[in-house]
Amino acid sequence: MTQVSETAPDLLAALDRGESIPARWYTDPSITEQEITHIFRKSWNYVGPLSQLTAVGDYVTGYAGGVPVVVVRNEHGLAGFVNVCRHRRHEVMKGRGNAKLMQCGYHAWTYDLAGGLRQVPRSAAEPNFRLEDYPLLPIRAEALGPFVFVHLDPDARPVHDYYGPILDIIAGSGVVLDTLQPYSREEWQSHANWKTMLENYLECYHCAVAHPGFNAAIDVRPDAYTLTAHGWFLSQSGQVRPSALQGKSKIKLYDVAGEVTQSQYHFLWPNVTININPGFPNLSIDVWTPDGPNATKGFSEQFFGPGVSEEFAQSLVAFNKQVAKEDDTLTDSVQRGLLGGLPDRGRFLTNSEHLVVHFQKMVVNAILGKSAEAP
Ligand SMILES: [Fe+2]
Repeated sequence: MTQVSETAPDLLAALDRGESIPARWYTDPSITEQEITHIFRKSWNYVGPLSQLTAVGDYVTGYAGGVPVVVVRNEHGLAGFVNVCRHRRHEVMKGRGNAKLMQCGYHAWTYDLAGGLRQVPRSAAEPNFRLEDYPLLPIRAEALGPFVFVHLDPDARPVHDYYGPILDIIAGSGVVLDTLQPYSREEWQSHANWKTMLENYLECYHCAVAHPGFNAAIDVRPDAYTLTAHGWFLSQSGQVRPSALQGKSKIKLYDVAGEVTQSQYHFLWPNVTININPGFPNLSIDVWTPDGPNATKGFSEQFFGPGVSEEFAQSLVAFNKQVAKEDDTLTDSVQRGLLGGLPDRGRFLTNSEHLVVHFQKMVVNAILGKSAEAP
């Protein structure tokens, strides 16, 4: 692993002047390795909705800093484990579902819902082999409202300490979190660094230029659209445009005239985003994971409130996909610019892009300062 030559104080001072972190931070595999070690393995990672973990035996699989994980509901509540067999390290559970036991598909080593190893074919004939020596490795699993997160560090602070206030902010949109129902889940991949993509998410300076439909639905003017740093999560909010409500947009839009009139776009450090759009109660959550320095993979889950029509659901999903496609075109281009390495530093407008500056400070602190605090 090569060392970063810049120092944290120099980079943080540059960020205060609106000067970005260097281009190499977006293209160098050794930086991605350090991010996995110092960021993703030391953060809460979203794995799935609590509504899919309500009955004993319900389970959801996912990843935390590249480590396969599984969360299961057992008779004591939610339990998280490294989803890797103690035998040959094959993944134990796949996807989501309900199971009475967790059985590895390689040699049928079988664990109970508390992670204890219960059955190992041929183990009776193996000298010095005790089932109790090989439970699944436990990890933390906690719910934040209807969202389930895991953390690899047993001493991590609770997930509420990081993102707790977001629940009241979301409630202010008119979306009732406890009533949301899963609608769809899709995996996706893109050809840009995970930071390139999230930095694009964290400003709406580009919205009027690059998102004609979004710009027609939501008032993105700087005096109407707010960007707020809350420490470990960063929030943007805008109001639906009156012209959109009256059906007078020049661009054909989905039906924005539901009870939700405010849009909210939240980023939860390091790689989760939550979106609420105007219209009928809706929410989508995305996870953005580095796939090497020059690619990102992730998944997107869409939820709707009770009674929302299929027509609205399909048209909002299509709206979100159009915005994502427009963003991918932008971030692919930025990544090609970064790969050339010139210019080495970008220049932010600190009034419109201060959430990006905040994000880069968090990255610098995590990689160079090893800080446990948000700026
Ligand atoms: Fe965008």
